[in-house]
Amino acid sequence: MPRNLAVPAIMEVLTILQTLSSSRGEWPHTASSATGEKTLEEIRAYWNEHIHDLAIARHPAGSKEFFDELEAYRFEKLDYLPRVVDFTAYEGQALLEVGCGVGTDLLRFGRNGAVVTGIDLAEVSIDLARKNFESHGVSGDLRMMNGEKLEFDDASFDVVYAHGVLQYARDAASIVGELHRVLKPGGEAILMVYNRYSWLSLLSMVSGVRLEHEDAPAFKMYSIPEFKGLLSRFSKVEVIPERFPVRTRLHRGGLAAVYNAAFVSAFNLVPRPLVRPFGWHLMAKAVK
Ligand SMILES: C[S@@+](CC[C@H](N)C(=O)[O-])C[C@H]1O[C@@H](n2cnc3c(N)ncnc32)[C@H](O)[C@@H]1O
Repeated sequence: MPRNLAVPAIMEVLTILQTLSSSRGEWPHTASSATGEKTLEEIRAYWNEHIHDLAIARHPAGSKEFFDELEAYRFEKLDYLPRVVDFTAYEGQALLEVGCGVGTDLLRFGRNGAVVTGIDLAEVSIDLARKNFESHGVSGDLRMMNGEKLEFDDASFDVVYAHGVLQYARDAASIVGELHRVLKPGGEAILMVYNRYSWLSLLSMVSGVRLEHEDAPAFKMYSIPEFKGLLSRFSKVEVIPERFPVRTRLHRGGLAAVYNAAFVSAFNLVPRPLVRPFGWHLMAKAVK
């Protein structure tokens, strides 16, 4: 798409987004699921069935090739992640990941010398994470556990990490409380939730294409002030909106073709500082 058409079109959309984000109204599909009414068992059962990114895998689940393709896909889709999180910076430090899934990020920390512990509510994830670590010859303590009630002593970790977890939690505030409790004074929390006022939530609303795992028993998006509020017990909180359009491999058909051929390139012509507040992922770095 020519730049002289793309930039005004995307800016128009962002103006609408800006208006919506500053109004008091909620977008129709952004109401959170009634997380309080969902049992942990429902949430566990969902995540045992819906391993994150499993849909793109071609190799048998649990094989080394399977983990390698999930990792390649993740870091292609989340190209920002190694820029925002220095996976090499925690050598010798005790790092806990809550909701580690199959352990892709945790493995990266572990390979670079962090002393890693990963927990997840779903036993299928933890079984796969153990296989992931084994097949790469990396050691890590991996356990099935509820992040709302961590079985670790106070101040036992230098770093805590939860990427894409709080938005699917029954009780995000309890998980944040536990992360804060097990973190040493001065320790760092690295967290990610979805931005309610993002290009992707708007696109989903306009196109009718549901967001990934929007059908999970608990699902909630956050505005930047809401996310900061959730993290208010930390002494210093920085929120960085990230995750801008990249070509999708998950969706097929006409809409996906238009998205890949036109939307992605048009959006990425807009200078990043203008669209920064509307990134889909709100990354937080917080200090206890
Ligand atoms: C979207 S997946 C993200 C997995 C991984 N962090 C990633 O980025 O690929 C969400 C994960 O959060 C986990 N989860 C949800 N509620 C949890 C809780 N209360 N305690 C621990 N893990 C939880 C789920 O089991 C699931 O594996």
